[in-house]
Amino acid sequence: MCGITGYVGLKNASPILIEGLHKLEYRGYDSAGLALLKDGKISVCKRTGRVANLEAAVAGDNAKSTIGISHTRWATHGGVSDVNAHPHVSSDGLFAMVHNGIIENFRGIKTFLEERGYTFKSQTDSEALVNLIAYHFKNRTSDSDENRFLEAVRKALRHVEGTYGIAVLCPLFPGTIVAARKGSPLIIGIGKNERMVSSDVLGFAGRAQSVIYLDDNQVASISADECDIVSVSNVPVDFEVKDVDWALENDDLGGFKHYMQKEIFEQPSALENAIRGRISDDESTAKLDGLNMTPSELRQVDRIMFCACGTALHACKTAEYLIEKYARIPVEVEYASEFRYRNSPIDKNTLFFVLSQSGETLDTLEAMREARRKGYKTLAITNAVGSTISRESDGGLYQYAGKEIGVASTKAFTSQVAICLMMALKIARMRDMSFSEGRAIVEALKELPRSVAEALKQAPLIEKIAKKYASYEKFLFLGRLDEYPVALEGALKLKEISYIYAEGYPAAEMKHGTIALVCKECPSFLFANSDEIMSKVVSSAQEIKARGGSIIVATHDPKAFEGLADDIIPLPKVHDAVRPIVSVVPAQLFAYYVAVERGCDVDKPRNLAKAVTVE
Ligand code: G6P
Repeated sequence: MCGITGYVGLKNASPILIEGLHKLEYRGYDSAGLALLKDGKISVCKRTGRVANLEAAVAGDNAKSTIGISHTRWATHGGVSDVNAHPHVSSDGLFAMVHNGIIENFRGIKTFLEERGYTFKSQTDSEALVNLIAYHFKNRTSDSDENRFLEAVRKALRHVEGTYGIAVLCPLFPGTIVAARKGSPLIIGIGKNERMVSSDVLGFAGRAQSVIYLDDNQVASISADECDIVSVSNVPVDFEVKDVDWALENDDLGGFKHYMQKEIFEQPSALENAIRGRISDDESTAKLDGLNMTPSELRQVDRIMFCACGTALHACKTAEYLIEKYARIPVEVEYASEFRYRNSPIDKNTLFFVLSQSGETLDTLEAMREARRKGYKTLAITNAVGSTISRESDGGLYQYAGKEIGVASTKAFTSQVAICLMMALKIARMRDMSFSEGRAIVEALKELPRSVAEALKQAPLIEKIAKKYASYEKFLFLGRLDEYPVALEGALKLKEISYIYAEGYPAAEMKHGTIALVCKECPSFLFANSDEIMSKVVSSAQEIKARGGSIIVATHDPKAFEGLADDIIPLPKVHDAVRPIVSVVPAQLFAYYVAVERGCDVDKPRNLAKAVTVE
């Protein structure tokens, strides 16, 4: 999704801004642009397509500028074009602005400004805001020179409905960037005699030694050596400067062809990081201090509600099976975007959980805020340290999976499920689960990185199978019990990166409608790793076979599918509790190799964004 970088310091800003944009490419975008201050004027360059196009366009420009802002745009209002790309400049030429988010009342603002002589070039909502800033600058009442820039931005923002992360330049203040946020992340990076802004800490990877996370409704005036922050209603803000651990933000491909591939193979170590220090051998339970809950508070929980989007929602659905099975607490899972507006009734003793790799997904953040508003304790599982969700939740657990760059989420999914399993274990051990049952899960968790590494050894076989099926245009993914959410996730992975239509379904439910799709042109990918219901999944496979559909099966019991499945992916036999974490691995690899075979841009799939910070 849209990305922002800004720089003010002593160095040449342009290459630093371009470097920052490259780092944000993984978020997904369709055009890029930058604005610099040169000779007392704003100089803008914008290009559709990749950041490389913008880089080529500014390459010949040797005039040094030490201040600038830049942007990658993911179109919302107005098509993909140079003119709609950011930065936008106010019609009086005094302000350049980059914007993430959506200005919902932009039409009203635009009409107001048009009536006062302001003109517009683009179809974007953002151009309304930069002109509103110009309007407030022109019609200022106070003349305290120092604050005029910040004040104009602040006053304009008071009239904005919607969400924004912005960075603004003005040639009258050649050493200052004004930045603000509401609902869309913005971070200030601090270096030696230089300050940066970005919508993602990775935007200034390696450059900033420490950072300041702006909170909603805060406006910052940033120069090379200083930073002042006030609220939109002009109350000074005390802010915290935090050190950054760049080791966690490593974005080196390390010999892999794609980030998605690298991240699939990083799962054993990501799982180790998620589990490390969180299990107790002596007590056969999990230690989850980040939840900030006393044992008696945890005992009072009658229900757990999960909200998330995309892959994280599938992790929640997997958690539903695990928590209900082991902890015997009813779990409800809701799309964050639906929860926000549905006004779902929540029981008094409900624990409200959100899962978000990025910790910035707007629908998830707003669902969490809605629950907090209603007085519920909200907990979060996030991967991005310092993200908005992690900061605003009442407690939570970091995944420590390392930066996930591939748009199609993989290691974040498995590490979220592992953390949810530890939660199930902890709650179960406070209730009915015996020491020895707990012990078996603890052992399975300790073994999990090796089990996943074992499943990853099937990569060459899966690559071969993927080549065989890469030209098909539709697929079914079928599983039962906790492998049903795995089927959903398998289908999502294939859709996301190879643009093949795929459906995830409970295997037995297939016969109530979806079986109509089964034919020679629609293969099915089955997950069959539960001995309890193995014969039932075999029956589903028979039904598919009888209708001419090809079958790929990922199973620890290849014998059960001999002569029935066209392709069998053998998996290690693991404890039921960790099964979904192992079962999903072949589906991730299958989607990856199919996309590669089809020549798709695996890490930057069309239309998708890594962190969706708009509604
Ligand atoms: C986007 C991404 C998905 C991701 C979802 C939730 O749609 O393309 O891969 O699963 O957002 O992201 P989150 O960061 O909240 O886990």
